[in-house]
Amino acid sequence: MVTRRKFVAGGLAALSAAKAFANTPSLDLGAIARRKGLIYGTAVNGKGFAKDLRFRELLAAQANMLVCEGATKRQALEPKPGIYDYSEATAVLDFANQHKMKMRGHTLVWHLANPKWLLDALQDKPSEALITDYITEVAGHFRGKFQSWDVINEVLSPDDWNRDGMRSSSPWFKAFGERYIDIAFHAAKAADPNTLLFYNELNLEADARWSEDKRTSALKLIERLKSRGVPIEGLGIQSHLKLYRLRYDDRIFSRFLDDVGAMGLKVMLTEFDIADAEGPRDPAKRDADVASLTKRYLDVAFSKPFVLGCLTWGISDKYSWLSKYENYKWADGSLSRGLPFDENFKPKPMWQAMASAYEGAKGR
Ligand code: G3I
Repeated sequence: MVTRRKFVAGGLAALSAAKAFANTPSLDLGAIARRKGLIYGTAVNGKGFAKDLRFRELLAAQANMLVCEGATKRQALEPKPGIYDYSEATAVLDFANQHKMKMRGHTLVWHLANPKWLLDALQDKPSEALITDYITEVAGHFRGKFQSWDVINEVLSPDDWNRDGMRSSSPWFKAFGERYIDIAFHAAKAADPNTLLFYNELNLEADARWSEDKRTSALKLIERLKSRGVPIEGLGIQSHLKLYRLRYDDRIFSRFLDDVGAMGLKVMLTEFDIADAEGPRDPAKRDADVASLTKRYLDVAFSKPFVLGCLTWGISDKYSWLSKYENYKWADGSLSRGLPFDENFKPKPMWQAMASAYEGAKGR
């Protein structure tokens, strides 16, 4: 019996399959996601946004949330002590508003993308004001304008051999110990009470012992923060998957999501892309493999009512960090194919897989 839902899904799949290889499908991921009360968003590459009109058109056509790839990091926002530069972030925020998209901030406190003057100050004369003044200023500047902030980013590191799995090599941890996290969240909540405050983390997704240890450390950290009354509201799972290098298991990922949901946190997939290095030479084969993993991964995530949605870390292979990053780029200079649109802004099977996963999700 073909139920209405199956009929719609089938029709939509056929329609988007038919149109998915036109220039840009008339159906956009943002609209399909919104119909289910979910988010589809993407990181905005600064160069592309500034110089590439077709890139902007694709953002406007496909996303219902944006995050800046670099413009809301401290290196960009406070290049000199007390001197703030909101120009690039504001241009993206204005664009988002113009196209009725939400925006999220990334990231208030990270061990990377810090201006040199800050690293020197943290080493020579660490003061909590280096956290609170900045967050009060920046989260205050965007008060009420962002759906969420990544307050802290990548605070765990198995490589640092810390008993709690903390990134003890972080300049923030070295200066203040773990409580820098408490300070940051309280300052963000005071500056912007209604924006969702997230802890964002990488490498929580793999079927591997070290990733399992990291998931355990993340859950224990969240427990400690909640027990200390830290206003943490969400976990950002970056979701940089490595298709031909790391195993992925639906049950392991599903169980981890349930553990996070049981702690009362919302979840967002914040930086989804799939590194295809070491895959088959044939791009069509890699595209099919990427699409298959995309569907599996998003089907699990969207089956959880506390998962708000997914942002890809870029929308087109033309502007993907994967093609520049030593560990994931193709030695022969080929572009990584880990995003829904190719370098000519044509939708790939990954787009279709994302559309099907959103369409198949339970409505929120
Ligand atoms: O803007 C300068 C440019 O003026 C200069 O000529 C050029 C040469 O060095 O550097 C440019 O800045 C670069 C910036 O991206 C903008 O393109 C930085 O060097 C470069 O380090 C920076 O890389 C970004 C990286 O975060 C560090 O901030 C990547 O684009 C961005 O994709 C990456 O994103 C991270 C997330 O924030 C956290 N999760 C992992 C993810 C991937 O590494």
